[in-house]
Amino acid sequence: MALKAVSICICANQSISHLGVTDLGCRRSGSVLNLRFERKWECCGASAQRKPQAPVLGLQDGSELTHITETRGFHKDLNSLPRPLTAMDLSSFPRDGVKVRVAYQGLSGAYSEAAALKAYPKCETVPCDHYEATFKAVELWLVDKAVLHIEHSVGGSIHRNYDLLLRHRLHIVGEVQLLVNHCLLGLPGVRKEELKRVLSHPQALEQCEITLNKLGVVRVSADDTATAAQIVASEGLRETGAVASARAAKIYGLDILAEKIQDDSDNISRFLILAREPIIPGTDRPHKTSIVFTLEEGPGVLFKALAVFALRDINLSKIESRPQRNRPLRVVDDSNQGSAKYFDYLFFIDFEASMAEPRAQYALGHLQEFARFIRVLGCYPMDTTL
Ligand SMILES: *[C@@H]1O[C@H](CO)[C@@H](O)[C@H](O)[C@H]1NC(C)=O
Ligand SMILES: *[C@@H]1O[C@H](CO)[C@@H](O)[C@H](O)[C@H]1NC(C)=O
Repeated sequence: MALKAVSICICANQSISHLGVTDLGCRRSGSVLNLRFERKWECCGASAQRKPQAPVLGLQDGSELTHITETRGFHKDLNSLPRPLTAMDLSSFPRDGVKVRVAYQGLSGAYSEAAALKAYPKCETVPCDHYEATFKAVELWLVDKAVLHIEHSVGGSIHRNYDLLLRHRLHIVGEVQLLVNHCLLGLPGVRKEELKRVLSHPQALEQCEITLNKLGVVRVSADDTATAAQIVASEGLRETGAVASARAAKIYGLDILAEKIQDDSDNISRFLILAREPIIPGTDRPHKTSIVFTLEEGPGVLFKALAVFALRDINLSKIESRPQRNRPLRVVDDSNQGSAKYFDYLFFIDFEASMAEPRAQYALGHLQEFARFIRVLGCYPMDTTL
């Protein structure tokens, strides 16, 4: 609450000084408080507007605003105001990305960094040692966005990252699908038959099981694929290889000994882009909405919860359940049998509709009838490219 008041104040002061009314407030100190009070409602978009004081009236009405600026000569100030957002600005996401700072987990050359660059080609990528740190970096305004690896077509969901989504209050503003082609990297001049050990992220090692078995190498886990490549390069390990991206080979000056060494042909990773503020959902192109909820007890509640989407022809693209940490067990008292305990779950759902569409709003309204808790994690344009 205190935080909110601060931002309101900043907001009110800015509007006043832009319009050159601060001096007016100084001369008539009696009206300063009122003036600010009126402004804070207006600029923060609350509906409860009181009848403004005389000097404020003109500022709220477009035509009188022009009048004031003409008579007082504040053209310059008005021109320096930020340009209003247009539909173009909103729909250009996520293709532009000038000067956006994006945090990712891992070192340069990690797949998460490639995902950040796919979403914002001109962004400045900021490496972090843990996923938790990427969230913190956004929360502390050190960066604008964070990239979160959420699932892989072979490895499945990254459960810990679902938990982080809930623990933090960031919003999903985009998704990125990335083709993951693992390469076997080694020091320049090394042949793959010479390798005795291979370093990589455990998931990457798992995904390349057939190739690694054939080579008969010892698998050693590393924090992420780029770190594995970096260790091989910096320590000059001739008998150690790394499973990482072709980009990592280039960055750390390693040779690609083998390409596309993963076992399965579907090798796509999905990443989420997180920001402090949600984006305004559109209907100009396909959108996805991600929610998390818990259900009341009762027969068939999950069935009913899913029906709210089916009834409105809304496709679900993902459902995931996670234990509810603050209330992991549900105790049902049965006077004859003693008490029974059940696990209690949180459900994460991605559905293919925009929150700007009435059917999505009705579906969530309907879901609220059986849900004890719902949070919309974000509504964002679908990534339909590879
Ligand atoms: C995934 O990797 C395999 C190699 O294992 C490769 O042949 C295939 O093209 C990749 N998948 C896609 C969609 O490119
Ligand atoms: C749901 O998914 C199917 C198959 O991908 C697609 O053909 C259909 O158009 C989708 N329906 C809606 C309402 O988006």
